[in-house]
Amino acid sequence: MGSRDEYYPRKMNHAHGQSPARSKLKILLLLVSTNLLTFYLYSSSSSLKWMAPAVHLWDSSALLRELNATQRKLAESQAQVALLNDRLATTNSLLETLATDLGQARRDEAGAEQGLEAWTQELTGELKLAVGPHKLPLGYNSNLGTGELYPTLGTACRRYQEELTQYMTYEVGGECPSDEVFSQRLMLKGCEPLPRRRCHPKSPAGYVEPRPFPESLWATPADTSITWDAYSCKSYGCLVDRAKAKGSYDCKDCFDLGGREKHRWLRGNGRLDYGIDEVLAMKRGSVRIGLDIGGGSGTFAARMRERNVTIVTTSMNFDGPFNSFIAARGLVAMHLSVAHRMPFFDSTLDIVHSMHVLSSWVPDVVLEFALFDIYRVLRPGGLFWLDHFFCLGDQLNATYVPMFQRIGFRKLRWHAGRKLDRGLEKNEWYLSALLEKPMT
Ligand SMILES: *[C@@H]1O[C@H](CO)[C@@H](O)[C@H](O)[C@H]1NC(C)=O
Ligand SMILES: *[C@@H]1O[C@H](CO)[C@@H](O)[C@H](O)[C@H]1NC(C)=O
Ligand SMILES: *[C@@H]1O[C@H](CO)[C@@H](O)[C@H](O)[C@H]1NC(C)=O
Repeated sequence: MGSRDEYYPRKMNHAHGQSPARSKLKILLLLVSTNLLTFYLYSSSSSLKWMAPAVHLWDSSALLRELNATQRKLAESQAQVALLNDRLATTNSLLETLATDLGQARRDEAGAEQGLEAWTQELTGELKLAVGPHKLPLGYNSNLGTGELYPTLGTACRRYQEELTQYMTYEVGGECPSDEVFSQRLMLKGCEPLPRRRCHPKSPAGYVEPRPFPESLWATPADTSITWDAYSCKSYGCLVDRAKAKGSYDCKDCFDLGGREKHRWLRGNGRLDYGIDEVLAMKRGSVRIGLDIGGGSGTFAARMRERNVTIVTTSMNFDGPFNSFIAARGLVAMHLSVAHRMPFFDSTLDIVHSMHVLSSWVPDVVLEFALFDIYRVLRPGGLFWLDHFFCLGDQLNATYVPMFQRIGFRKLRWHAGRKLDRGLEKNEWYLSALLEKPMT
């Protein structure tokens, strides 16, 4: 939470091409030289005065005065020397600290480089093959700017080497382990993308080909078309019943196509719910392709498809086969977490929609990066439909309104409203907004 400036100070430092350690060193050298200069001035000025005492041996009182004065000066000088000693001690201890810091920084740097090298070299078997690096044939490096190909792998994979090794343990060309939950958890922990594997996912025993389009859009697929190993429900019927039972699940009523899904986004209510047709009408036919972030069972994409708009739906399988369900409806499902950079070119999509997923559970900095990424992939004039963004009342004005303003969207519509069930006593709010990427 905070202003843009709070997010970028590190970057600014580096932009000036000066590491913090280096500027610290400069300050210290300055300090040391200032001290030396003081020392020189003190000692020279004092000694000059001592050099020419006007001693007249015949005048004993004058001699005493002179002696007295000399004594005083000597005492003063001693005090000065003590002061200088103090300063030098301080300088020395600062210098020691700096030396330690510099040494640590150097060790850290070396450690990071060595760590990556060591990590890659340590790998064996399939993991090593999947991660590379792999030498490119001569003459094929112009697009890459390097002679080696490093297949992509999420940074946090290195933190979970044991799990990663387990993930990469299988018979090459054989069947992959049934590890959907395990591997998705690895993804969510930041090992995204996962490395590629050379094995086949387990095929369901009774796969039934999907219904033809457009019937497929609103048909529940055959239970036997997927394997249910990873889920507590073992059929689509169970998922529908689950919606009616107690308990909280992710996207609880998503699989019940005859229930709430049938009416979602059909009509706006002038408040938090917007209707798809009123949104599309604002752009008079120029909305053709887009993305639904965390699109549940794909109903947003289905409705858009009926209006000739192609929507890619990202989803995770949280105790339900969301991806298979979306795909069976004839829609494009993409396995992507909200932390992942969106795999689209700059300025290409007409619309990005997100309901419930982008909310206050996402750490502020991650959210801000995600919003900038949405801005990036939208074309000028493209729409970001933020649907039921959840947060607490005081966070709304303190954190999120300024954040949305920073991204640079133009507000076309904006509705904040209290969450009606438990929300009233807990001051929980929803925000729905229709934001436009400026034309210039
Ligand atoms: C020596 O100087 C101090 C002040 O600096 C003075 O009080 C004292 O009387 C002087 N003594 C003599 C012997 O002049
Ligand atoms: C979708 O496109 C088809 C083929 O171009 C057209 O016949 C149909 O009317 C369009 N539907 C809508 C809702 O625009
Ligand atoms: C946020 O600020 C606006 C304008 O100042 C105000 O009308 C609104 O009540 C505030 N919202 C919340 C949830 O505090």
